Parts: sequence; structure tokens; C-alpha cells
Amino acid sequence: MKKMAVIVGLFVGLTASAGAQDVTWRKDVEPIIKAKCGACHGASQPEFAEWMVLREKQKTLSPRMDTYAHFMGYVVWPATGAMMRRLDDGKASGGKPGNMYAYLGGDDAERAKNLQVIKAWLGEGAWNLNRWNERKGVPGITKERLDKIKAKY
Ligand code: HEC
Repeated sequence: MKKMAVIVGLFVGLTASAGAQDVTWRKDVEPIIKAKCGACHGASQPEFAEWMVLREKQKTLSPRMDTYAHFMGYVVWPATGAMMRRLDDGKASGGKPGNMYAYLGGDDAERAKNLQVIKAWLGEGAWNLNRWNERKGVPGITKERLDKIKAKY
């Protein structure tokens, strides 16, 4: 009986500590996206494919990215790496920050903190700027790199 209690205790302890470290969409990322991006990328905006059609005539239109599925469309496919290219602080690109980086916060510290949350959530090694296909000498994304994406819901 005592042994059983120890095993149960260990198990609860393990899952509790794993839970504390887990960065999730619902707990950590969605609140940032809602607060910082929601005004322009909320539920009333067209989804990516529709946006691609409409934007030819409406240059300032922004696409929807307020749910997990919509958001992942800018990470994995069809807009592979768009999220990383637009939110990068200039370190991964080796140039200037992406044009959506500024919206991550009111000052450098807040921007850096929110970027770190999103990067940690995507997973170690998952911050890749590659598109689906090769473009201008930049290779397309590989399955190996896509495998790094954790992005827990
Ligand atoms: C003030 C409005 C505004 C805010 C706030 C804003 N965006 Fe945008 N975003 C736009 C517009 C307009 C476009 C389309 C024009 C362009 O491509 O730059 C866009 C484009 C994008 C794209 C490129 C989509 C693609 O497939 O090319 C991404 C990714 C993106 N935004 C992410 C974000 C994130 C994440 C945030 C919050 C940190 C954010 N944006 C905040 C207006 C905004």
C-alpha cells in the first residue's frame, strides 16, 4: 500500500512539474495574440486564402489569425514561416526586424518577452524563416525542421 502511495505521489509530482513548464496556446500565446494582434487580425478578417484573393484590391487588408488553426497556417502551411519572418527581431534573419515585431509590445523589454514566449511555445529549433519552396536562393523548409514544431494547444 505504502509503495503504491509513493508511486502515485511520484507520478503526480512528475506531471505537475511537466505541466508547469509547458507553454500552451490557450494559456500563454492566445492572450498575447488577442491583446497585441487582435485589432487587425481578429475574427472579422478573411482567412488566409480569401485574403490572398481580396488583397489584390485592398492593399491594407490583414488576414485572420486569432485561432490556433488560423495561426498555424502562418507557421506550417500554406503561409510557411510567415509568422517567423514577420515577428523575428532581426536575429534569425540577420537583418532588420520583421514588420509585425513592433506590435509585440510597447517597449523593447515587452517585445522581447512576448517573442520569447512564442519561440519557446513553437519549440527548440522551430524558429525557421524558410518558405515551403525555395525562393531567391533560400532553401524551402525541410521535414526535419517542421518536426521541431511543438506548439502545444
Ligand atoms: C495595426 C494593424 C496590425 C497589427 C496590430 C498587427 N498586424 Fe499583422 N498585418 C497587418 C496588415 C495590414 C498585414 C498585411 C500587410 C503586410 O503583409 O504587411 C499584416 C500581415 C501580417 C502577417 C503576414 C501574413 C502573410 O501571410 O503574409 C503576419 C504573419 C502578421 N501580420 C502577424 C502579426 C502578429 C503576430 C501581430 C501581433 C504581434 C500583428 N501581425 C499585428 C496589420 C497588423
